[in-house]
Amino acid sequence: MKKLPFKDILHTNQFSKKDLKLIFETALDMEKYITWEKTDEPLKWKIMASMFYEPSTRTRLSHESAMLRLWWKVITVSDSTATSLSKWEILEDNAKMIAIYSDIIVMRHPEAYSVQTTAEAISKPVINAGDGPHQHPTQALLDVYTILKERKTLDNLKIALVWDLKYWRTTHSLVFLMWLFKNIEFTFINPEWLWMPEKVTTFLKDKNIKYSETINYKNWIKNCDVLYVTRIQKERFPDLSEYEELKNDFILDLKILDWNTDITILHPLPRVNEVSTEVDSLPNAAFFRQAENAVPVRMALLYLLLG
Ligand code: CP
Repeated sequence: MKKLPFKDILHTNQFSKKDLKLIFETALDMEKYITWEKTDEPLKWKIMASMFYEPSTRTRLSHESAMLRLWWKVITVSDSTATSLSKWEILEDNAKMIAIYSDIIVMRHPEAYSVQTTAEAISKPVINAGDGPHQHPTQALLDVYTILKERKTLDNLKIALVWDLKYWRTTHSLVFLMWLFKNIEFTFINPEWLWMPEKVTTFLKDKNIKYSETINYKNWIKNCDVLYVTRIQKERFPDLSEYEELKNDFILDLKILDWNTDITILHPLPRVNEVSTEVDSLPNAAFFRQAENAVPVRMALLYLLLG
């Protein structure tokens, strides 16, 4: 039985190329359960607890769907006001209780590093489903799986990450995975207030990985193999007037793309208006296939952590 060499999934800096190979091979195998090519129970059933203290559609439901595809069970905290946290129970105690009732916890929380602190307090595996503006490692894993499926390689790629690079945790997580591959070049394209954090750019400098930063998106957006678009997140702006100034200026449409069908267009979703819906019909608009890949990748992670 194959296993990952760690208890928790907290950030993408923890993965080696060998881990990624194992996860992606297992995810390909997991696709056979989704299409009913395989019908056995892969392991004796387990219980996953989903603890979401921030809203989610894809991350929570794809983890839960992954569990059900494995014939396993789920208990859910989707509304923290319905738990004893609303009676001022400390988060660590709340998590300890939930760990007693389950085999693995998937947790989203608005504070950076809160999932790590929780994982350190309990012996059961914990998966970070997004901790504030810090990281969203399982999203990045399914993003890389999608790039591999769409481009048939993870080497020699020019990757443009666009719009909200300051707050979008998936962009940070993705950089910390993609640098592992050969001859990767990043372009960061963002409005002036939303630069990629220094922790990411310093990391790239240290590793000698090529990257450039620009606010001039019209000139740059076509010059890449993978275009990773993000929503400008209203909920993370301390000053809403800054958000109001930006929200209608950064929109990807067919005119900007010039009907380019060579670029693989990804988006972790949810979308508001930053990718015009007219883009959806392009064969290279891969964001819904990306969301679909969430299930086999998360099945693989659950299986490899609990095996
Ligand atoms: N991509 C993503 O994390 O989506 P949700 O916020 O809907 O989970």
